[in-house]
Amino acid sequence: TPPELIRNFCIIAHIDHGKSTLADRMLQKTGVVEERAMRAQYLDRMDIERERGITIKSQAVRMPWSLENAAGELETYCLNMIDTPGHVDFTYEVSRSLAACEGAVLLVDAAQGIEAQTLANLYLAMENDLTIIPVLNKIDLPAAQPEKYAAELAGLIGCDESEVLRVSGKTGVGVEELLDEIVRQLPAPTGEADKPARAMIFDSVYDTYRGVVTYVRVIDGNLNPRERIQMMSTRATHELLEIGVISPEPAPSDGLGVGEVGYLITGVKDVRQSRVGDTITNLAKPASEALGGYRDPRPMVFSGLYPIDGTDYPLLRDALDKLKLNDAALVYEPETSAALGFGFRVGFLGMLHLEIVRERLEREFGLDLISTLPNVEYEVRMDDGKLVEVTNPSEFPDGKIADVREPVVRATILAPSDFIGAIMELCQSKRGTLRGMDYLSEERVEMRYTLPLAEIVFDFFDQLKSKTRGYASLDYEPDGDQLADLVKVDILLQGEQVDAFSSIVHKDNAYSYGVMMAGKLRELIPRQQFEVPIQAAIGSRVIARETIRAIRKDVLAKCYGGDISRKRKLLEKQKEGKKRMKMVGRVEVPQEAFIAALSND
Ligand code: GTP
Repeated sequence: TPPELIRNFCIIAHIDHGKSTLADRMLQKTGVVEERAMRAQYLDRMDIERERGITIKSQAVRMPWSLENAAGELETYCLNMIDTPGHVDFTYEVSRSLAACEGAVLLVDAAQGIEAQTLANLYLAMENDLTIIPVLNKIDLPAAQPEKYAAELAGLIGCDESEVLRVSGKTGVGVEELLDEIVRQLPAPTGEADKPARAMIFDSVYDTYRGVVTYVRVIDGNLNPRERIQMMSTRATHELLEIGVISPEPAPSDGLGVGEVGYLITGVKDVRQSRVGDTITNLAKPASEALGGYRDPRPMVFSGLYPIDGTDYPLLRDALDKLKLNDAALVYEPETSAALGFGFRVGFLGMLHLEIVRERLEREFGLDLISTLPNVEYEVRMDDGKLVEVTNPSEFPDGKIADVREPVVRATILAPSDFIGAIMELCQSKRGTLRGMDYLSEERVEMRYTLPLAEIVFDFFDQLKSKTRGYASLDYEPDGDQLADLVKVDILLQGEQVDAFSSIVHKDNAYSYGVMMAGKLRELIPRQQFEVPIQAAIGSRVIARETIRAIRKDVLAKCYGGDISRKRKLLEKQKEGKKRMKMVGRVEVPQEAFIAALSND
């Protein structure tokens, strides 16, 4: 297809504003999917995505659309719709999908208005110089307020209210006009056909049968089947076994040229060999400069994962190795905990990523896991100038510390203006700094904060929701790091440190963490034959203490000496129970106590 007839776009929307439904309707209106073959949410493939109703992996679909040109002739255009992931953890992937497009449909629920994610993605789209088409969705809803929200949208992007389109992905109203406007308003791709090939990878997915399927947007030159290509970040070379377009199933083609979007297969088995953001070129005639914007995925949140049944450790390792094939951001290394045994320290992009991985390990691989409280990565500078990266709180250095840095995020919060006070109070208690505040309309406000990632990881979102009766929305992206007054709080049972309970907290929160943890454990750990002190300590300084009283658990005393077989039975029973106990020094701690103490509530 000549570039003049290509339009590459994506849909950006807040979660649940109807992106998938609209995408499905477009597939149907353009005849790519027949009505009877239409299954809901054609683009969301993974089971977990479907169940959670979120889109993790982007895909691209080609759709034909005919429109009269200036001369009054009917011309058939080729629209490429690139799906963007919908959650904060995947900001980088979103930015690459946007970079593959010339324009974006900014989709807003006509009954909800603009939300934090709409804004965050809009800013990303503007950074990429995309043409924005503002669209209100769900206008079929009785609660829709198109006038009000058209004004909000027009104000935000600086257009006229009459330019805001109105559609319903559900009934199909306005969808054909939207397709027309995509052709009219979006610029055609530009690139140089005679230059050495440069194509940007905006997604790569592992497929059991075909190996890694890589989604690309060609910028310059062209890619053809059977030629050798090179990944510009690693210099690795591969043969192009297959190249083609998705419409809506993969169909091999005889190559991709300037502005085209499609997939390619080289036979590699690991998405790390085909990285999002990387540039592909032709080995025989390589480009000298890669396209900008490539970045290695960087884990932000860490947690220890341990099998509840220690013999499952090899199974857990195999499962992680398998998941890694399809997840370039997943990193892990073996770790041993005195309390929990053999496991892995796993790095994730964020909390949703963590939850997804954990759920897949449990569901697809049948593993039962204990995970330690999630933490961020700290950079500790010692008095002698040495730098220590800490991803496991129990490894926080003991010596003379000069300072500690923690990652921060730039957060965008959108809420009705009645809640400004409540939000400020919450952000303040989470060590946030207000960066700016704007009214989108009289009753809706956008607040921008810098917040420590560690505070967001904990339970920020839940608290925000409960303090604003569910009305606030939140989006955030990494924004470097800052110095912070942080300390490590250890928990000791009878003087023995329990590594899994160590936590790095702000100095002002150390006492309350210590009291909370000691109190929890006193409830959870059964009495022993001897008294067990529980202490929370910073270094050698104890900041909180609880005691589990001793009992005389002399079971044999009940048997009055006589019945030998009954005695034996009781002893056997006790042994059974002990199997599910972990020993911390002399103290028996039931497995359940660890699970309950580490759960986030
Ligand atoms: P994520 O993939 O989770 O980001 O959601 P999404 O933005 O793709 O939203 P989705 O298409 O899953 O729609 C969310 C909900 O809104 C679903 O219950 C849809 O049935 C409903 N919905 C979508 N479009 C319309 C519409 O035009 N009208 C009405 N009434 N409901 C709609």
